[in-house]
Amino acid sequence: MNVLLLPGDGVGPEVCNEANKIIKAVANRFNLDIFIDEDLIGGVSIDENKTPITDEVIAKAKSSDAIILGGVGGPKWDNLPSKDKPEKGLLRLRSDLKFFANLRPSICFSETSGASSLKKEIIEDLDLLIVRELTGGIYFGEPREKSTKSAFNTMIYSKDEIKRISEVAFESAMKRNKKLCSVDKANVLEVSELWREVVDETSLKYPEVKLEHMLVDNAAMQLVKDPKQFDVIVSSNLFGDILSDIGSMLTGSIGMLPSASLDQDSKGLYEPVHGTAPDIAGKGVVNPIATILSVAMMFKYTFELKQVSTEIEFAVKQALSNGYATQDIAQSNSKILSTEEMGSLISDYVQ
Ligand code: IPM
Ligand code: MN
Repeated sequence: MNVLLLPGDGVGPEVCNEANKIIKAVANRFNLDIFIDEDLIGGVSIDENKTPITDEVIAKAKSSDAIILGGVGGPKWDNLPSKDKPEKGLLRLRSDLKFFANLRPSICFSETSGASSLKKEIIEDLDLLIVRELTGGIYFGEPREKSTKSAFNTMIYSKDEIKRISEVAFESAMKRNKKLCSVDKANVLEVSELWREVVDETSLKYPEVKLEHMLVDNAAMQLVKDPKQFDVIVSSNLFGDILSDIGSMLTGSIGMLPSASLDQDSKGLYEPVHGTAPDIAGKGVVNPIATILSVAMMFKYTFELKQVSTEIEFAVKQALSNGYATQDIAQSNSKILSTEEMGSLISDYVQ
């Protein structure tokens, strides 16, 4: 098993350190041969190599089985044009390695439900999966251009791109509660009309799955109003980006949520849903759980070791139910831990 760590910027290195601990604990406990390499992406790569990701790192990523990424970007690089920004490194990695299927679970742990801005009964026991298309749509559509007087981007999807992400969504729904909501803007956009047609066509292969279509503005509202009406949501790159931020905040802390980005063969890029949080970087307070749960997803999806993934999740739950918390999820009676302490505790539980 070859794992490439790309810590990146801001809190990225801190959360990746804890992910590294967990991988080592797993290797020990389950007697696995896991080789871990590490390299640069994002702003740190711009500083060192003048590009947000080098061809060498892309090649290294291609020859690894899985990649764990911390985060990219920060105020230091905000004034660069978008084609040179740290984010471009992540976008190139996703695109070059064809990680088209982005899985973003929103799971509410009972210990952290008090940290949500929504009422407890609205979010308690929430378990929602957002399937976001990750290598197409307006993020990558050509042509794109900016001049001083005007600028434009292109939102484009081919039938094949919609079909393959729909299949991932229907397959996920089959393994869960057989309920899928496809989100688009078909009352305005042609690209969404096609999206709807292809999702409908794909649904014929999955007659057991109850399919619903929803407009994205309504979906944003419904997610806040009654998130438990959803089980699996599938959407395009841009809409999925926005909806998954809403999804993450429903649970109380964006610091808890992992994600997986998979190619056709389940090779994957695993990263926390949160960003680089420059305001708290280097202070040892960031919650490492999102990245640790991303490691759990890696064992489940890429290495097909469901038991390992379940044990990591169990270790996280144990830490929470024993009253430990990082500051972002702390309640009045929590025992507050630093990033490193939380990572060490969870890795002890795994061992
Ligand atoms: C995410 C992030 C990225 C995205 C940025 C950093 C390019 O917001 O992973 O959700 O928009 O996809
Ligand atoms: Mn985002």
